[in-house]
Amino acid sequence: MKTKLSLSLAVAALSCMMGCSRQTTVDDSVVTMATEATFPPYEYRVNDQFAGVDVDISAAIAKALGKTLKVEDMKFDSVIPAVTTGKADWAAAGITVTEDRKESVDFSIPYYRDAAQVIIVPVSSSIADADDLKGKKIGVQSGTTGDTFMTNNYGDPERFDNAAIAISAMQAGRVDAVVIDEAPAKNFVADKADLKILETPLTVEEYAIAVRKGNAKLLETINKVIEEMLEKGEIKALMEKHTKATEVAGEPAA
Ligand code: ARG
Repeated sequence: MKTKLSLSLAVAALSCMMGCSRQTTVDDSVVTMATEATFPPYEYRVNDQFAGVDVDISAAIAKALGKTLKVEDMKFDSVIPAVTTGKADWAAAGITVTEDRKESVDFSIPYYRDAAQVIIVPVSSSIADADDLKGKKIGVQSGTTGDTFMTNNYGDPERFDNAAIAISAMQAGRVDAVVIDEAPAKNFVADKADLKILETPLTVEEYAIAVRKGNAKLLETINKVIEEMLEKGEIKALMEKHTKATEVAGEPAA
C-alpha cells in the first residue's frame, strides 16, 4: 500500500513536472528583452520583424550568453515592470537613466550619451522655444522622461501610447507640440514637410539597459558587450544604419 501510494505520488509529480513545465517553466535557451517598438532608430518593426539599435545590441548580448533573443513589444510604461516582475531579462527601449528608475532596476553603463528631449511643432507654429509651451497642449508618450519633464514643469500633458500617434494628433490640430527624444523626432519629421524640430533641447539624457535589481551577473555581460561595441564604434554605426533604414521604411507600424 505504502509503495503503491508513493508510486502514484511519484507519477503524479512527474506528470505535473512535465505538464506544468510546458506552461510555467521558462525556456533556458531563450532570453527576453522588453521594449516598445515604435521608436526608430532604437526599435521599430519591419513587417513582422523587430529592428533597431537596441535590438542589435540585445542580439549581441544574447549571443554572448549563448542564448536566443526574444523581443517582447509592450507599452513603454510596462517595460521596467516587465523586468522587475521577471517577465523579461532586460529592458532596452531608449531608456533614459533616472534616479527614480534606479530605485526599481539596475542600469548598465550608458550606450548613448547625447540623448535629449526636443520639441516638434508644425512649421507654421508660433511656438519658438520652451517658454512658449506654457498654456499649450503638449503631446508626449506616456511614462517617458518627456512626460515627466512636462508634468513637472508645465502641468499635465496629453499622454499617448506612442510618439507616432502623438504626432498624428498634432497634424490633426489636437495638440500644439510634441515632446520626444531627439533621434526618433528626427526620424519622424524626416518625411513630413509640415513639421519641424525646435533648436534648443529641453533636457540632456543618457540611455542604458535595465536589469532586475541585484542581477550582477547579467549586468556584467551586458556591460562587457556595450563596452566592446562602443570601443569599436559599432553603436554609432548602428545609429547610422537604422536611421537610414527607417527613413526608407517610413513610419513604424503602430
Ligand atoms: N528616453 C525616454 C525615456 O526613457 C523615452 C523612451 C521611449 N522609448 C520607447 N521605446 N518608446 O523615458
